[in-house]
Amino acid sequence: MKYSEHIDYLVKKALMDEACEVRKKAYAPYSHFQVGAALLGEHGDIYTGCNVENASYGASNCAERTAVFKAVSEGERKFAAIAIVGGKEGEKTAVPCPPCGICRQVLREFVDPKTFRVILEDGNGGWEERTLEEILPDSFGPDNL
Ligand code: THU
Repeated sequence: MKYSEHIDYLVKKALMDEACEVRKKAYAPYSHFQVGAALLGEHGDIYTGCNVENASYGASNCAERTAVFKAVSEGERKFAAIAIVGGKEGEKTAVPCPPCGICRQVLREFVDPKTFRVILEDGNGGWEERTLEEILPDSFGPDNL
């Protein structure tokens, strides 16, 4: 493995580990589907988030948006990658958990869609990777205004 590939792997592993860890804090008493996300800021900091549900279901927040809003409220506005892990409460194995449409759009605001990487647990302990552009083509962003 080349040095740069090794670094790449270690960064992804760190993000995945943080996403798994924060997933334990998910507040999901209604869906029982727990999600953790770890967002990499352009300066190397990692911001984590879990889903936070509400008795008024529509007031619930996804893990990805929790991470973005935490980061932006701490002053970070540019991001390089996000790792996402989701699965049913009580089940150790995660299932692929692609970000919902609202979270894709929220991420779009703060990233370069061509280079921003979305790293998904594949359900078998491996990872899948996409760019934001791949999962949100022809997107509307700040440049369109
Ligand atoms: N959820 C996330 O947090 N992120 C996703 O990418 C998909 C869905 C949450 C929302 C809700 O709390 C639960 O998972 C079931 O939809």
